[in-house]
Amino acid sequence: MTKRISLTQYLIEQQRGEAQIPSQLRLLIEVVARACKRIAINVSKGALGEVLGSAGSENVQGEVQKKLDIIANEVLIEANEWGGHLAGMASEEMDDMVGVPNRYPQGEYLLLFDPLDGSSNIDINVSIGTIFSVLKHKGGDVTNESFLQPGTAQVCAGYCVYGPQTTLVLTVGKGVVMFTLDREMGAWWMTEDNMRIPEDTKEFSINMSNMRHWAPPVKRYIDECLAGKEGPRGKDFNMRWVAAMVADVHRILTRGGIFMYPWDKREPGKPGKLRLMYEANPMSFLVEQAGGMATNGLQRIMEIQPTQLHERVAVVLGSKSEVERVTAYHREVQ
Ligand code: AHG
Ligand code: MN
Ligand code: MN
Repeated sequence: MTKRISLTQYLIEQQRGEAQIPSQLRLLIEVVARACKRIAINVSKGALGEVLGSAGSENVQGEVQKKLDIIANEVLIEANEWGGHLAGMASEEMDDMVGVPNRYPQGEYLLLFDPLDGSSNIDINVSIGTIFSVLKHKGGDVTNESFLQPGTAQVCAGYCVYGPQTTLVLTVGKGVVMFTLDREMGAWWMTEDNMRIPEDTKEFSINMSNMRHWAPPVKRYIDECLAGKEGPRGKDFNMRWVAAMVADVHRILTRGGIFMYPWDKREPGKPGKLRLMYEANPMSFLVEQAGGMATNGLQRIMEIQPTQLHERVAVVLGSKSEVERVTAYHREVQ
């Protein structure tokens, strides 16, 4: 029988070993993983659990909230507020950060999350997920400003995919590991100990329906991919778009590829669609830890100094040589 490592065992090894993660961070990760199990149960019940459809409300970004967006948000807050490991939490689904209720001890960490990524996939039974990022609180009162730290300050990042399998992928800054949920046992078992993104790829991921709105460097890159063997790249490319960043990034961490959600002309005043603090930064940390690269077309995403909790950003991430190419195309026209 294969001897497997549980999430708890991995984290205890990280506590004792090279990463030296503090016990509060270990607790935080275990609590988030437990919350993801609860979300996975809700997701899997679908119509039987009456979790499908719209909640009839909008979030701060003007997006219609699905019932599961709200359920997942509540599960994460309830699971995390009492353990003593957090100073505060911020989420896609809340206008402002929330502190820890006074009756509980306050910890050192700040947790950011996209409780349910890929909301448009919920009702059609396609993969969705949860994305999270962990920062250290620098002290003083916890406010929205406390969260405005660049991605390089993250001490942990991860995501959970609710797909054919439920998988948890995380980094504490020492590579990327994957755990798969054993539903009968309710346990997370390590199924990949060092995820690596191949440097080269023949697969791209972008919402092609926005092509007419793209900036020239993005159009140039995709045109060259589409030209295939006969074009300047000299090879045929494949395309995938799940409409859940979590699932697209998971594919890239598993078999390589490039993912882009660039700036486009639909809303020229916004840098992009995806959110820096709880989508782009945690995914960039994971991708870099797996040997890939993540930029906004011009600069490393993790070095951007955030100015708002719900700030948006253009995203180009994945296999290193492809991200370098797209970034070079952008710099040429600067
Ligand atoms: P969310 O469901 O958390 O709002 O995020 C959806 C995001 C991202 O996960 C995905 O890559 C993208 O939106 C899909 O956008 P399109 O609707 O343009 O395909
Ligand atoms: Mn999202
Ligand atoms: Mn979401």
